[in-house]
Amino acid sequence: MNGNIIIKNASQIVTCSGFKARHGREMSDLKVIDGGTIVIENGLIKYVGKGDEFPENWDPEEYKIIDASGRAALPGFVDSHTHFVFGGYRADEFSWRLRGDSYMEIMNRGGGIASTVKATRQASKKELISAGTKRLDSMLSFGVTTVEGKSGYGLDLDTEIKQLDVMKKIDGRHPIDVVRTFLGAHAVPEQYKGRGDDFIRYLVEGVMPVVAERNLAEFCDVFCEKDVFSVEQSRYLLLKARKLGLKSKIHADEIVRLGGTELSAEIGAVSADHLLRASDQGIRDMATSGVVATLLPGTAFSLKESYARGRYMIDHDCAVALATDLNPGSCFTESIPLLFALATIHMGLSAEEAVTALTINGAAAIDRADKIGSLDVDKKGDVIILEFPSYNYIPYHIGVSVVEKVIKNGNLVFDKTNREEKPCRQT
Ligand code: NIG
Ligand code: FE
Repeated sequence: MNGNIIIKNASQIVTCSGFKARHGREMSDLKVIDGGTIVIENGLIKYVGKGDEFPENWDPEEYKIIDASGRAALPGFVDSHTHFVFGGYRADEFSWRLRGDSYMEIMNRGGGIASTVKATRQASKKELISAGTKRLDSMLSFGVTTVEGKSGYGLDLDTEIKQLDVMKKIDGRHPIDVVRTFLGAHAVPEQYKGRGDDFIRYLVEGVMPVVAERNLAEFCDVFCEKDVFSVEQSRYLLLKARKLGLKSKIHADEIVRLGGTELSAEIGAVSADHLLRASDQGIRDMATSGVVATLLPGTAFSLKESYARGRYMIDHDCAVALATDLNPGSCFTESIPLLFALATIHMGLSAEEAVTALTINGAAAIDRADKIGSLDVDKKGDVIILEFPSYNYIPYHIGVSVVEKVIKNGNLVFDKTNREEKPCRQT
């Protein structure tokens, strides 16, 4: 019965139906079916609808049956921006920030990303696999079934490859699917200090070709920020990456308004992320060019910065996605409940918009809206079942996960009601 499940009697099926990003007002329409059944066969969704329409000639022995009475079913969440593979921790920095130091001050005096780079270079693959797997276990318990993960704590050939390799290994073993992004341009390493252009050239000539040839990443990302990489450097790097088949993402306008948002539209990036300081023009550009605006309110919260203008972006027809940005510095959390709380209470999204941002729009942010992010026939059988009858309970139960069961590729991989099944590994 591998990959065969029938979920019956769900009080509400939140389908988020569709195969592309939802913009603006479309984000409010979750295409909910009141009461119904989901049939998953061989890991793929085969039926979603009202009533008990089980497959023809179905053999009960071949399916696991889940009675979801009094419970809502949704697509698995897609966390489309994380840095979940890293060595070491930076708890000391967090306490410095509580005392008033800024993130960029700590970075400019050699802490921040550089300190995680040091620890990640020293860590063995085994250590990184074990730590990364634990983080994914936690994400799974929050209902995440697909995650994007970035390199960027190596800043040299060996360690960038090591991080991407580790993600590939974890992907093969863990129920959560991992989509890999090359973020070699995350910071200028010590030996290239003051020579950012040379470092970009090193990445383009010495690292990216290996990443592409070994198929280790699908996306290339860059930290386009004052005192890190300029708009010109970011454009050069991303266009070179594209020639090697890597699609573009940008950490854009996070701390200073530099123009990364406009750049994302100019080059047709799949997503622009952070966007705390995105300009009105940049927001209009994203909306018209179809760049997914990926908002990471956990980071603004953790850095005590003002939030990205999520409400304004949706009102101006952007496709907004939400993600955790899990990383050891600016936002050490994988908490989906926290993300919902910040997005709804502080950024002004409705419950419906937040659900869209974590499902179909999260999928679009990693170019997978045709395969995941909604409950549509022939998409992956990635479903979460809540403890409550409606998606409204997700933001309402503040800071607490209401996910009871997680089904990945048609297999039950997390079940709060059965500790034994938490979490199951794929064989
Ligand atoms: O997305 N902004 C740059 N990169 C990460 C933070 C990385 C770190 O502090 O380790 C981010 O916030
Ligand atoms: Fe990030």
